[in-house]
Amino acid sequence: MSERLRIAITKGRLLDKSVELFEAVGLDCSPIKDPGRRLVHCVPNYPLDAVLAKAPDVITYVEHGVCDLGIVGKDTILEKGGSFYEVLDLGFGKCRFALAVKEGSDFYGTYKTRRIASKYPEVTRAFFEKKGMDVDIIKIEGSVELAPILDLADAIVDIVETGATLKANGLVPIEDVAQVSARLIVNTASMKLYKDEIADLIARCEGELERRK
Ligand code: PRP
Repeated sequence: MSERLRIAITKGRLLDKSVELFEAVGLDCSPIKDPGRRLVHCVPNYPLDAVLAKAPDVITYVEHGVCDLGIVGKDTILEKGGSFYEVLDLGFGKCRFALAVKEGSDFYGTYKTRRIASKYPEVTRAFFEKKGMDVDIIKIEGSVELAPILDLADAIVDIVETGATLKANGLVPIEDVAQVSARLIVNTASMKLYKDEIADLIARCEGELERRK
């Protein structure tokens, strides 16, 4: 008998796409599609239970081994890091991290230390460290586009999907920082303990992703 696996799925925009993928590979996701206030759901026709969680918590649950697998954005992986296997780029939830400034401002044309606002200080730190550039990073919790408008920062590092939010706030992207999409991650011990079960799920997803190309 195969072991029941547990997967943590990021709530919000990645959840619908995750359900779409799992249904395409034959998993009955009806309990997840009608979750109510319940946070743990069983897949009736496959040995898998799904836990719905916030992105950073997906990583925490997988790292601690209370979930064998997780679906989480590369943005959260880059920011939070951690010890787990990143086994599959799921191809949805695509966007990018970009460096953006107020339209018309010359970001590189000054020697003074630049201030960068971001919800992702670690991604920002790594980007400027690679450039060998010393910057002051200010952590913002939401609507980081406000920081340059209010003259709190010279630039922002943030997620850009359509570019509409930047445009609406008079900002322009000047450099890509990293590409982002949803990833399937696996706890390192689970990978050994439930090798066959996990391989089956990965193979099903890979097959579907290949079909979508
Ligand atoms: C993200 C990001 C931007 C916006 C970009 O915020 O921080 O504000 O999306 O999308 P666009 O390029 O399509 O305009 P999100 O909506 O995820 O909200 P958050 O502040 O809760 O992260």
